[in-house]
Amino acid sequence: MSDKKIIFSGIQPSGSLTLGNYLGALKNFVNLQEEYNCYYCVVDMHAITVPKEPKELRKNTLQVLANYIAVGLDPDKSTLFIQSHVPAHAELAWILNCFTYFGELGRMTQFKDKSKKNEGNITVGLFDYPVLMVADILLYQADLVPVGEDQRQHLEITRDIAQRFNNRFSPTFTVPEPYIPKVGAKIMSLQDPTIKMSKSDTNENSFILLSDSPDDIRRKFKRAVTDSLGVVAINEEQLGIKNLLGIYTKITGEKIEDIVSRYEGKGYAEFKSDVADLVIEELKPIREKSEYLLKNKDYLEEIYAKGAQKAENAARKTLRKVQKKVGFIPKTFKIQQ
Ligand code: TYM
Repeated sequence: MSDKKIIFSGIQPSGSLTLGNYLGALKNFVNLQEEYNCYYCVVDMHAITVPKEPKELRKNTLQVLANYIAVGLDPDKSTLFIQSHVPAHAELAWILNCFTYFGELGRMTQFKDKSKKNEGNITVGLFDYPVLMVADILLYQADLVPVGEDQRQHLEITRDIAQRFNNRFSPTFTVPEPYIPKVGAKIMSLQDPTIKMSKSDTNENSFILLSDSPDDIRRKFKRAVTDSLGVVAINEEQLGIKNLLGIYTKITGEKIEDIVSRYEGKGYAEFKSDVADLVIEELKPIREKSEYLLKNKDYLEEIYAKGAQKAENAARKTLRKVQKKVGFIPKTFKIQQ
């Protein structure tokens, strides 16, 4: 048994990932894999909470898996798998539904936002989305969950439900901590720096995708909304520039003050063009490696099959414990194949 602490995180396969997904979550996954026992999941069951074309979902699921490997996640070190391959996620989610209050889920801001966008088409799955996420995390007894700022509330409800279950029965779940980076936890839209960068935005210039070509990236940064002050500085009046500085520092690791002083007396055009170059250089190997991996479907299958087996073993242990605590009679038969 490894005594390493456990990490769980997931990303939805709902189209090509954005620079926000990458800087807020994915990039951090890689840094954590040496020190922790990591489970990184492609959450396809979450993706169908809003309408999805089956063909697109299949393609995007493999794409996120390819992105995981392309950014440097090592399948021998981290467990990479697809959520729907481990049925314990759905099974635990059902049990936890019975320990979650209607009012709690109604307060989730992501549900409120998404249901505004899908008015007239709000499924029970969309409402219940956070409970499935709680099950994802608690099944693996995760200590830490690396996510962007927009998932903070979902981590709070995870902690609440874990504590509620532990208090009602006896200690069963590890109560996880969110791991939200100081820089890059909320990359903003390039067209409106008051809202987060999101691939569901109708304006394509507002987000950078991992699959964007260098020309697309350059064009989108050139058009990024800034202000009329013309001075590269960090403050709450220049949110567009603040967002670009966040991207810059997250990629280079340089201090914001050092970056700001380098652009003293220089205009926005040069700054934007440099940010674009940095992003192009950062994403190029990821795009190329992902494209290469997507041509090797057998290799991807090997990874997700092995990952699901490892995940299944860990998940079953927790699920069995939970089933026993709530009073289900243990199964003594084997299913005939
Ligand atoms: P998802 O797929 O929307 O996003 C994946 C990760 O990217 C982060 N993120 C951002 N970070 C910074 N700036 C942005 N503009 C930005 N946009 C997205 C998200 O915070 C997330 O970390 N519910 C989750 C998926 C999930 C999950 C889980 C995560 C399902 N089960 C269990 C952790 C643990 C989601 O929809 O993320």
